[in-house]
Amino acid sequence: MSVAPPAPASATRIVENAENAESVLNGGNAGSPPKKRRPGPYENAPRLPLASEMERVDLRTVVTGAWTELEVGPGPKAGFLVERAEAAPEAALLGLEIRKKWAAVGDARLAKLGHAARARVLCEDARLALPRLGPDGSVKRAFLHFPDPWWKKRHTKRLVMGDVFLNEVSRLLEPGGELYVQTDVEERAELYAGVVSQHPAFEPAGDEAGSPRLADNPYQARSPREHRAIADGLPVYRFRWTKRR
Ligand SMILES: C[S@@+](CC[C@H](N)C(=O)[O-])C[C@H]1O[C@@H](n2cnc3c(N)ncnc32)[C@H](O)[C@@H]1O
Repeated sequence: MSVAPPAPASATRIVENAENAESVLNGGNAGSPPKKRRPGPYENAPRLPLASEMERVDLRTVVTGAWTELEVGPGPKAGFLVERAEAAPEAALLGLEIRKKWAAVGDARLAKLGHAARARVLCEDARLALPRLGPDGSVKRAFLHFPDPWWKKRHTKRLVMGDVFLNEVSRLLEPGGELYVQTDVEERAELYAGVVSQHPAFEPAGDEAGSPRLADNPYQARSPREHRAIADGLPVYRFRWTKRR
């Protein structure tokens, strides 16, 4: 574990926060005390190692490979990471999934396929976990596939895409490193394109100079939702930015 600049105070609260995450997703109140309940079958979903407030978790101790890629919200069976592990056999892959069951199932699936040393899904709220990761500049690619399936104004606080996500991803990406985002919701596509394009760390890296738009996914791996959108004939809005050098 490498010594890094002080992590935010929220780092020490991550266990409690992540344990409440499913109740928040299911409409619970994040501010209310956790209800006493019997432990569920996925209480032992894999987590990031705990570090002190003075340390960040070195990604390279969690997954090892020639370079590191990060996915936020891989979903029920880590479909993108499974396909990406086949397409990029040298890459180390880390997924951060807020739902315990989906993290546990996705992680077990990667292990069963023989990828345990280099591809993991950990049960974490990415907004809390990303600030705990290091070293800076150690990630080659970050993926955000079909995020934020919440549409009501009161759910805005759940959105992954935002300042915390972009600041932390830009810190973790190497110069020239890629941020790939895709969605099938046009309004969200416009929102993401606007928010990322305004961030000073990123520059567009789409098919045409000056635009982040990509006609297709260039990573030889698709997310489950992407497969479904294609099968249903829905448009998919794809974007790529790189971290300014
Ligand atoms: C609509 S699903 C998309 C799943 C997958 N990426 C795909 O494209 O098929 C959004 C995913 O993001 C996860 N998620 C939502 N908020 C998150 C957060 N703060 N940290 C980590 N994962 C999160 C959800 O649990 C879910 O797996």
